[in-house]
Amino acid sequence: MYKVKIFGAGSIGNHLAHGCRNKGWHVTICDIDPAALERTKNEIYPQRYGSWDDEIRLARPEEVEQEQFDLIIIGTPPDSHMALACRSLENRPPRVLLIEKPLCTPSLEETERLLKLKEETGTFVAVGYNHTLTRHSVRAVELLSQDLIGGVITISAAFREYWGGIFGAHPWLAGPQDSYLGYWNRGGGAGGEHSHAVNIWQHFARLTGSGRIVEVSAMLDMVSDGTVDYDRLFLVNVKTDKGLVGSIIQDVVTEPPQKTARLQGEKGFLEWWVNWDGGHDSLRYSGKDGKVQEELFSKTRPDDFAGEIEHLGSILEGNVPEFSPISLEYGIETMLVVSAAYKSHQHGKRVKIHYEAGLGPEALEVE
Ligand SMILES: NC(=O)c1ccc[n+]([C@@H]2O[C@H](COP(=O)([O-])OP(=O)(O)OC[C@H]3O[C@@H](n4cnc5c(N)ncnc54)[C@H](O)[C@@H]3O)[C@@H](O)[C@H]2O)c1
Repeated sequence: MYKVKIFGAGSIGNHLAHGCRNKGWHVTICDIDPAALERTKNEIYPQRYGSWDDEIRLARPEEVEQEQFDLIIIGTPPDSHMALACRSLENRPPRVLLIEKPLCTPSLEETERLLKLKEETGTFVAVGYNHTLTRHSVRAVELLSQDLIGGVITISAAFREYWGGIFGAHPWLAGPQDSYLGYWNRGGGAGGEHSHAVNIWQHFARLTGSGRIVEVSAMLDMVSDGTVDYDRLFLVNVKTDKGLVGSIIQDVVTEPPQKTARLQGEKGFLEWWVNWDGGHDSLRYSGKDGKVQEELFSKTRPDDFAGEIEHLGSILEGNVPEFSPISLEYGIETMLVVSAAYKSHQHGKRVKIHYEAGLGPEALEVE
């Protein structure tokens, strides 16, 4: 059975520990904060999943630094991801490394170093955009591959969610000032926290041959009060190298939440919804007959991560896919757009992305 090490005994660390235990894998969770380890065992895990699982080992990071693992998961705040990822690959590279989203901060520090380490070690490196691998996302890909909607005219995506829910899941935080969430340059704010929207936009653009985003024009609503400094609204217009124009909205104010993407084609449309209602993701679509269909996919919160964990399990078994929607390169492309949006807002100008210049800050040009 595979050995898994998870950095971070917080919200995502518990979700992914639970998902890995469902596969029967050996799980070690490590955290620099002893109170977080205690909270995992006594509160988060039993409250979410019914009871604590004695098979899960809890440790300080230094206690397990020299142990070999098959899968390492980095579920810590975004501004710690790159250092932990690089150290994991330099020290004892696992076969698979999953880094939570957003991959890094908008400064795009060390993306090139991480890509190089990935090549040198042969480790499969993934970024946790789990919504690309849920059942309804797989079905959407199937429908699009059957040419349901014809040539794509535009794509829009929105992850709009008041972050009261996040603080509900983190009762030990009083508000955004207590974590990275309140700081855009640490990977918080709407741009980093809800970057699932940028990512799913790119996912559908990729799958429909609509191209890669090369131009970004953004307007943000910043909250800066001397303590916090984050974007509560992140509104972005984008254009691809194939000339397709679309829009992306992320915010931390919308209640009830709205998590959706929409592709308008020449023959029809496809809408993709996360949490359409309390127990379902959904798809709505029509083809050239104009008949609107709706498909519901029953789900629970653990199901949000089940497809991602299956995908990692398959890679651990040796089935490395030619196309992985959660590959490191795609995770970096998402951060390039997020970073370009902050630059665009700050300069009041469009920002171009030159992928040929590299997958770091050098790729961004303010017009
Ligand atoms: N894919 C998703 O849907 C999803 C959902 C929730 C969170 N996330 C992402 O997961 C990451 C963590 O979010 P969270 O809500 O779990 O945060 P959290 O604050 O609940 O937990 C983070 C934990 O990491 C620990 N930590 C910090 N530095 C560490 C280090 N160097 N080594 C070991 N532990 C360390 C902290 O002590 C803390 O306990 C973020 O990047 C967030 O965006 C993704």
